[in-house]
Amino acid sequence: MSQIKMEPLAEPKRFIDQPVLTPGEIDAAIGTVVAKVEHNIVKLGETFPTSATHDGSYSTSKNVEWTTGFWTGILWLCYEATGDERFRRLAEKHVVSFADRIDQEIDVDHHDLGFLYTPSCVAAYKLTGNELARSAALKAADKLMTRYNPKGEFIQAWGPKGSAENYRLIVDAMLNIPLLFWASDETGVAKYREVATKHYATTLRYAIRDDASAFHTFYFDPATGAPVGGKTRQGYSDDSSWARGQAWLIYGIALNYTRLQDTADISTYEAVTNYFLNRLPQDLVSYWDLIFGDGSLQAKDSSATAIAVCGMNQMQQFLPEGDPLRPAYEHAASAMLRSLIDGYTAETTSGITALLNHGVYSWHSGRGVDEGNLWGDYFYLEALIRYKKHWQMYW
Ligand code: GLY
Repeated sequence: MSQIKMEPLAEPKRFIDQPVLTPGEIDAAIGTVVAKVEHNIVKLGETFPTSATHDGSYSTSKNVEWTTGFWTGILWLCYEATGDERFRRLAEKHVVSFADRIDQEIDVDHHDLGFLYTPSCVAAYKLTGNELARSAALKAADKLMTRYNPKGEFIQAWGPKGSAENYRLIVDAMLNIPLLFWASDETGVAKYREVATKHYATTLRYAIRDDASAFHTFYFDPATGAPVGGKTRQGYSDDSSWARGQAWLIYGIALNYTRLQDTADISTYEAVTNYFLNRLPQDLVSYWDLIFGDGSLQAKDSSATAIAVCGMNQMQQFLPEGDPLRPAYEHAASAMLRSLIDGYTAETTSGITALLNHGVYSWHSGRGVDEGNLWGDYFYLEALIRYKKHWQMYW
């Protein structure tokens, strides 16, 4: 493993001086979200929103792409927040759609099965014991297993399995492998956990640079499995750190720590988290790549901050008492979430509205730049629910 150097947290006082969120702030923010979701349900019926808004509104979509599970996950979170059966009934209809999607193999030849099936079907099973959801999520886990490359020991993100131009992992998959841990827990079959653990170790070994910043993707030699090098796809450049990639690492390490409890990973977590926090601009919501700061005229990616807040909230319980970063992280996560509540949720539309504004899907393709997106919405609401109660996570 390369030697990751941990930057000190540059300005802990910037965070410590901010009060933690109050229950009143959280309740008000959840109330605003629930009202927007109710509005969106009227527009959507049983269809799904597109991945990102365009001019502030989502369009309707079939159950395709990698993001529809977030909409179903939002419904489950609303059900948890309110107990309102209307959210549950609609989410259960989506479970039928997800079961059909994996049975018919509709747009499932990629690694995003965890993003799709965890907040939709694993959530359904955990919350209500839905057996169709359990079976669909296990089929999705089996499909994800087919993406594993023993040469290099990683799950291949995209493209035909084994092809040289696609022989790489991407850091986003840190949120896909919890589906495999869940499948092992559920079935008692060890192979899912073994693949998840190998992919996790490979990601930590190669996708984090010595300065604790993230490569978005990392290539291997298909003939030998030897490491080749890091490349970006959604970041600014191969040697910059895409903000959402850094956030996927923060949350991914926290989720995997929850299962594996390897204390060596705590310093890795703190190194990648400090790297992220040290590059937050004035309002604590990062630009879409951490190379940019205030004055850059670039767009913010609010979703990266929402993901990081969830990861920091999850990891907080494992940080040792007396670790000076512990209180700083507690206040930082709270202040970041407050900034999202206060500065990134005001704009609404009479169409299908985002819960969280000002994210970036893909700067290079021009898709969803300075727009809302479904994962930003989901992780924003997940963060609020985490602050509302002791949440039994879906991941
Ligand atoms: N997992 C794809 C993205 O974060 O845009």
